Amino acid sequence: MKIMLVVGARPNFMKAAPVVFAVQDRNAKIEKLRGPEEKIQLVLVHTGQHYDEAMSGSFFSDLALPKPDIHLEVGSGSHAVQTAEIMRRFEGVLLEERPDLVVVFGDVNSTVACALVTAKISLDTNGKRPLIAHVEAGLRSYDAAMPEEINRVITDHLSDLLFVTEESGRENLLREGIAAEKIHFVGNTMIDSLMASLAKSDKSALLNQFGLRGNTNESAGGVRRYALLTLHRPSNVDNREALLSVLEGLNELCACYPVLFPAHPRTFKRIAEFGFEHFFQRLTGSAERGRPISTPGIHLLCPLGYVDFLSLMKNAALVVTDSGGIQEETTCLAVPCVTVRENTERPVTVTQGTNVIAGTKAENIRRVVNDQMHSRKESRIPEKWDGKAAARIVQTIADRFQQRNEATSSTGVLPQAAIPQVVELLHRTKN
Ligand code: UD1
Repeated sequence: MKIMLVVGARPNFMKAAPVVFAVQDRNAKIEKLRGPEEKIQLVLVHTGQHYDEAMSGSFFSDLALPKPDIHLEVGSGSHAVQTAEIMRRFEGVLLEERPDLVVVFGDVNSTVACALVTAKISLDTNGKRPLIAHVEAGLRSYDAAMPEEINRVITDHLSDLLFVTEESGRENLLREGIAAEKIHFVGNTMIDSLMASLAKSDKSALLNQFGLRGNTNESAGGVRRYALLTLHRPSNVDNREALLSVLEGLNELCACYPVLFPAHPRTFKRIAEFGFEHFFQRLTGSAERGRPISTPGIHLLCPLGYVDFLSLMKNAALVVTDSGGIQEETTCLAVPCVTVRENTERPVTVTQGTNVIAGTKAENIRRVVNDQMHSRKESRIPEKWDGKAAARIVQTIADRFQQRNEATSSTGVLPQAAIPQVVELLHRTKN
């Protein structure tokens, strides 16, 4: 069996890495039991949606992900240009590689582009195509203005295997008419990566370099109280008033505490365009890492690698974010989280986790930040967020292909394409 995994943008890498390792684990076991021909052949494709060291390269080394077998090098562009370019380049790869299954992750442009190409490809004259699996299926914000929501809905409706991270995912898919047998509640591969990387993150030197550890009794573990901020949603950062509102909502927090803000390239660009530099304590490039930043105020940093970011997230008194994945990671780490969006597609982080949705109005953000800094919300780790989601995914895929092989090799079961001829034959014999 040949499986193609597609990654493209930063949040894909931590979702895909555990699946790569689970396939490798299974292959090692299967090879001993049944021989090398039963092994799953893996092809890792990187679309190049994210391309620089900070947004892509460092994640491969931090997560110990193997180098992609195929790199499409699409780079940035408008949604249409980026999506079309991925589709154009991915089609040739599919025709050449002819995998049995294409696995896509999350909700980025690479996800929908590759699912769409796979759904329409013909690998033979009968229209044979690879199956499509979507990891992190079923999440819905019901906010059609989010490009990710469009990507999620389309990808789910094209997929044959839908792996959901929380119960709401299954409910949403069933409500949309997707057949129950396609849906598999397996847990969260992003949390698999988090659990596997926690020990490494404890060794990150970043807290020391920033002067946030040691010589303080402000917080447990000798870590000074600080907040961590991430903002990159177009709705928050591409609009001057929206970004202003979020920054004003943080003014009380940053008057008292250091707020560390590793900014996405999109956000960096907008800060400069809107002339908002004065909101920040100072701009910190990676070269300035040695300098302590433990004074109150928002400290703008370059994007961080996975392990360093995890270390900052785990030790933060509070995380303020508009990211989807960070809502889940903070829930798993039991770190209070304030989401500066009007909705979330990950409701379990609110009902069971540490997340509170603050919206984007300054006064609401101020109030929720204050609540979350002073009284911790009761929380627990959601069902199946136990570090074993990828193993469940690989088992489900293997079972699915075994069933298919048994169905096609058994004399009692007819391949679907033969059914019309059989019906006609039965009619003729009756008459
Ligand atoms: C994308 C995803 C979003 C995800 C986010 C995580 C879509 C529709 N959006 O948004 O769901 O949460 O990634 O980061 O797929 N850039 C760089 N270096 C890079 C990549 C991008 O400088 O390696 C710059 C680009 O020039 C562009 C901007 O960042 O101007 C946005 O990149 P893009 O991939 O278009 O979307 P994101 O905002 O990153």
